[in-house]
Amino acid sequence: MIKFGNVTLPIGLALAPLAGVSDRAFRRVCRACGADFSVSEMVSAKALCYEQKAKKEHRSVTGLLASVHADETPMAVQIFGHEPEFMAEAARLITQNEYIGCVSEVPPSAIDINMGCPVKKVTANGEGSALLKNPVLAGEIIEAVVKATHLPVTVKIRAGWDKDSINAVEMARVAEASGASMLCIHGRTREQMYEPGVNREVIAAVKAAVSIPVLGNGDIYTAEDALSMMRDTGCDGVMIARGAMGNPWIFSEIRAVLSGETYTYPPISERFAVALAQVREMIEEKGERVGVAEAKKHLTWYCYGMEGAAATRSRIMQAEGYAELEEIMLAFAER
Ligand SMILES: Cc1cc2nc3c(=O)[nH]c(=O)nc-3n(C[C@H](O)[C@H](O)[C@H](O)COP(=O)(O)O)c2cc1C
Repeated sequence: MIKFGNVTLPIGLALAPLAGVSDRAFRRVCRACGADFSVSEMVSAKALCYEQKAKKEHRSVTGLLASVHADETPMAVQIFGHEPEFMAEAARLITQNEYIGCVSEVPPSAIDINMGCPVKKVTANGEGSALLKNPVLAGEIIEAVVKATHLPVTVKIRAGWDKDSINAVEMARVAEASGASMLCIHGRTREQMYEPGVNREVIAAVKAAVSIPVLGNGDIYTAEDALSMMRDTGCDGVMIARGAMGNPWIFSEIRAVLSGETYTYPPISERFAVALAQVREMIEEKGERVGVAEAKKHLTWYCYGMEGAAATRSRIMQAEGYAELEEIMLAFAER
């Protein structure tokens, strides 16, 4: 069990923040499959603040990214940025849940700070994993966010910037001293991006260095991966990203194995019914055009590894609306 702020996670099985993927619909699917925590797509603190000035009430992309359903908590909204004042203001807006463009039913249970994103567009501004190179600024950002919200503040880091500057332990200590309530560490450096090979030793070192809960992240694709991550590092829970894409049942599998049961995956027809319900929810939230466009990649992930998936994948990518997607998935399931 993990406790931070007034949040309790019975197990510590989290869906990771995934830009373009961990929207409300997918988070709800993962929660229904057994995740006990999830994190939103990353939200630009500056964009959220600027939208307040521009009064973009009816076309707030950022507001949609930060939106929370009442039935999906506990969850965190993740913010990124490099200026303590914008990060604090974004945390305040999200906490009060009344900003321009806000479509949240409730505020999140926590604010998560992104200190791991490796994408050049982000690091070039000194944001995401670039903050690993500047622990002093990272500490200032965390302190500012902690002051701006009554919600617990969590931080997601990587092992370090590159192999010559692995500093996750220092970063973890800075985060704890600055008021963070929980940490997630992805056991790769920024330089490694998503290359195979996760450094579990650095996750273990972070866990040993701080007293706040630590989630281990990186390359968890099966229940055995999750169990060995916990065993090898002593981490309090795990966070799963790519392993949940098209396979939210990984959370059910881990829950079952943790309680000594064997897990049988649902039949394909049931899995596709879940996938299609997710697509309908995406369409409800984002409209048919954006919802269908964004849903296609999810549907191809749901088909991953199945016989005939390649042909179905190209049909999915060419589909023009929900009705066509449903027809393709139902035909594939029946086959
Ligand atoms: C498509 C994609 C989008 C991601 N978006 C975010 C993000 O918005 N914020 C973040 O902190 N990490 C993000 N990540 C990193 C993941 O949360 C996770 O740390 C990383 O993928 C390693 O975990 P995994 O091996 O389980 O995939 C993203 C990763 C992927 C593949």
